Amino acid sequence: MKNRSPLPIYTPQSPSLPNDKLMYKNTKPKNNTSIDDEQSARNVYIETYGCQMNVSDTELMSGILSQAGHRTVNNIDNADVILLNTCAIRENAETKVINRLVHLNHRKRRNEDLIIGVCGCMAQHLRDKLLEAAPYVDLVMGPDGYRDLPMAINAVTTGDPFLSLQLDKNEDYADIAPIRKEGIRAWLTIQRGCDKMCTFCIVPFVRGRERSIPLDILTDDVKRLVDEGFKEIVLLGQTVNSYNDNKHDFGELLWRVAEVDGVQRVRFTSPHPANATDSMIDALENCPQVCKQLHLPLQSGSTRVLENMRRTYTVEQYRDIVYKLRERVPQIALSTDVIVGFCGETEEDFRQTYQLMEEVRFDTAFMFKYSDREGTLANKMLSDDVSESEKARRLNEIIDLQEGISADINSASIGASVSVLVEGKSRRNDEEYYGKSDTFKTTVFPKEDTQIGDIVEVKIHSTTAHTLIGEIA
Ligand code: SAH
Ligand code: F3S
Repeated sequence: MKNRSPLPIYTPQSPSLPNDKLMYKNTKPKNNTSIDDEQSARNVYIETYGCQMNVSDTELMSGILSQAGHRTVNNIDNADVILLNTCAIRENAETKVINRLVHLNHRKRRNEDLIIGVCGCMAQHLRDKLLEAAPYVDLVMGPDGYRDLPMAINAVTTGDPFLSLQLDKNEDYADIAPIRKEGIRAWLTIQRGCDKMCTFCIVPFVRGRERSIPLDILTDDVKRLVDEGFKEIVLLGQTVNSYNDNKHDFGELLWRVAEVDGVQRVRFTSPHPANATDSMIDALENCPQVCKQLHLPLQSGSTRVLENMRRTYTVEQYRDIVYKLRERVPQIALSTDVIVGFCGETEEDFRQTYQLMEEVRFDTAFMFKYSDREGTLANKMLSDDVSESEKARRLNEIIDLQEGISADINSASIGASVSVLVEGKSRRNDEEYYGKSDTFKTTVFPKEDTQIGDIVEVKIHSTTAHTLIGEIA
């Protein structure tokens, strides 16, 4: 690569760290390196894959880059640097990025100064193996390395790719101001990492130990978000309800965030059933700003499988939480995550999952075939012994079941009014707005004289499995 300056200040990290070990550096740099002249400023295009946590991390990366004098751009054709912020949760998430990299390499052939970086969970998961698959990648950076981004971009030269793959249990980025797109809903990371170690899951290995951002910092963030015009705050964490900053638990956090002047709605994702405490349920029941909606990942309806997954709850305990929630918050909408075809899952185990879904009747569900991930406990200890075709059959069965249940639940709201926070113009019709109901259902209705950001009552006249359609009441 030509005309790169300044030369690397950091030597690249050892690319040979064992894949299955969590490595932590002891300190974190407190000051971000800023670039000293306009010539070194680069146009950075970031493409985001995977979950909301990654969307939120992209906002964080934009904040770090712009603080250091780089610019983030929306048009890839204007980019000097292309960063992929990646996901490692299932194999197909990684395959998608590898395919994208092949495509980006064509760009690089046309412009040899173009820098291509892979950031996030897949970078942390594949480490130097990523460079074997895509030797033209210049930068491989895990989720705890983003403070080094501006420096890494300047350091990349013809020779060595830049690797930053150490996890840092102290890194919470609490002092960084993310750059968000304008909007109605702001995602706020309140916790990073995960301590749960579910056997199927790569997250603890690629995002490290759980750490919570102090409540006072979060409430200041929320005040700023309200000043910027956001109406709804969605609190984010891998097991968001295990939040604990050594002084406050998750229930207190919900109340404190909801009480910030101007906050109209608060949601959170994803809680873990083992941390579904009374203080969380109390806030769901009694705090007016906290939306009556809960995503509560189940994973399996067989206690035997849950044990093999190390989920730390039984089916009976999960069911008890659901009954308690529905008793205390009758209008609550529940959604979930389910995995089929996990190691050793028999037809009988699967039938139990199917029956539990029939019994609970979730409003919606995210359903997945089990995907074996190198480095996880299941990958080491259990056998991925359900065939691909059997996984597909089981998945299709529960998808069909859930589609029917979602459609039924939605159609039961015909004739009722739901309160909707107006988010924008509907994609299909300029004369219509869309927004989410309190229960997080997409709702579409004719604009009349409402404004984006208003909360309006919409009377529902028709529904699909995924949408409510109505008119201002
Ligand atoms: N606590 C996190 C979980 C992240 S992973 C959260 O915020 O939701 C999201 C979902 O992906 C999990 O709940 C699980 O259902 C699914 N998942 C995780 N690892 C998987 C794997 N190896 N194969 C298939 N699905 C998986
Ligand atoms: Fe993964 Fe289980 Fe944590 S699903 S993110 S290890 S709670």
